[in-house]
Amino acid sequence: MVAYKFALIGNPVTHSLSPWIHQQFLKQINRQGSYDLCEVKKEADLSEQIDYFKKNNYLGFNVTVPYKETIIAYLDELDLQAKKIGAVNTVLIKDNRLIGYNTDGLGYVKSLEAHTQLKKDARILILGAGGAARGIYNGLKESAYLSVDIANRTLNKAEEIKETNPRGKTSVITLTEAEKKLNHYDLIIQTSSVGMKPNSTAQLISLKNVSQAIVSDIVYQPIETQFLKQAKEQGASVHYGHSMLLYQAEIAFNIWTGKKVSAAKLDNELKSKLEG
Ligand code: ATR
Repeated sequence: MVAYKFALIGNPVTHSLSPWIHQQFLKQINRQGSYDLCEVKKEADLSEQIDYFKKNNYLGFNVTVPYKETIIAYLDELDLQAKKIGAVNTVLIKDNRLIGYNTDGLGYVKSLEAHTQLKKDARILILGAGGAARGIYNGLKESAYLSVDIANRTLNKAEEIKETNPRGKTSVITLTEAEKKLNHYDLIIQTSSVGMKPNSTAQLISLKNVSQAIVSDIVYQPIETQFLKQAKEQGASVHYGHSMLLYQAEIAFNIWTGKKVSAAKLDNELKSKLEG
C-alpha cells in the first residue's frame, strides 16, 4: 500500500498540532503516512512548494496563516464554503488539479454538536470578526443555526461577515452592547486571539452578565482561558477550543482519503496534552 502524504503550509508552522492529529487518524485506519510542516517564507515561494506536492504525489495539504486567502489564486477550483468564507484551509490534489475547501466552520459546528445539545433555534453570539469568525458564522448558518449575532470592535468587519450569508437573522453590535445583553444568548463564541499565551490573563469582554449559556472559546493555549474560567465561575457550561481543531482535521482527512476517522476518540488525549 502506498503511504499517504499530507502537509501544512504557513509561516510559522513549527508549533502545529496537526502532525500529531493526522498521525492518530492514520493509526485509526491502519495506514502508513506522513504529515510535513512546510514553512513558506514568502508568497513568491508558494508556487514552487505546490509543484513539489504535485510531483511527489501528495494527497493534499492544509493552509494556515498568512496564506489562507492568497492560496486561492493558485487553485483550480473552490468548494462553496471556501467561496463564501473567502479563505481556504484544506487543499485536495486530484488528477493534478488543486481543489480548495474550508473545513473550519463545519469543523466547529461538528465539535459543538459532539459536546452540547444545542437547538437549531438557539440564540448565538459570535465575538470577533476575523477569519475564524467568518468560518464559524458560515458553518453555523449552513447547518441551519439561523440566529447568529456578531459583536466586534470594528463594526464594518462584522457587517462584511453578515453579508457573506443572508440566511436567518443577524444583528451586528458593539462589544459594550454585547457585554450588557449576554443573558440574551444560549451560546457565546469567543473567536479572537485575545487570551492566547503568553497573554493569558487578557479577556475580550467580561462575562458577569452570563448565567445559563454555553460559553465557547476557540483559543486552546491555554486550554482553560481566562474567559472560560469566568464562564465557569458564573455557572455557565464551557466548550473548549481544541475540539474545533480536531474536527476540522477530521473533515480534511476525509476529503483527502475518502476514509472516515474519529476526532471524538482523540478529544481527551489532546486536551490532556494541552493541559500538559
Ligand atoms: P483572525 O486570525 O481570526 O483574523 P485576530 O487577528 O485575532 O484573528 O482577529 C480576530 C478578531 O479579534 C478581529 O475582529 C479583531 O477586532 P477588529 O476587527 O476590531 O480588529 C478582534 N480583536 C483582536 N484583538 C482585539 C482586542 N484587543 N480588542 C478587541 N478586539 C480584538
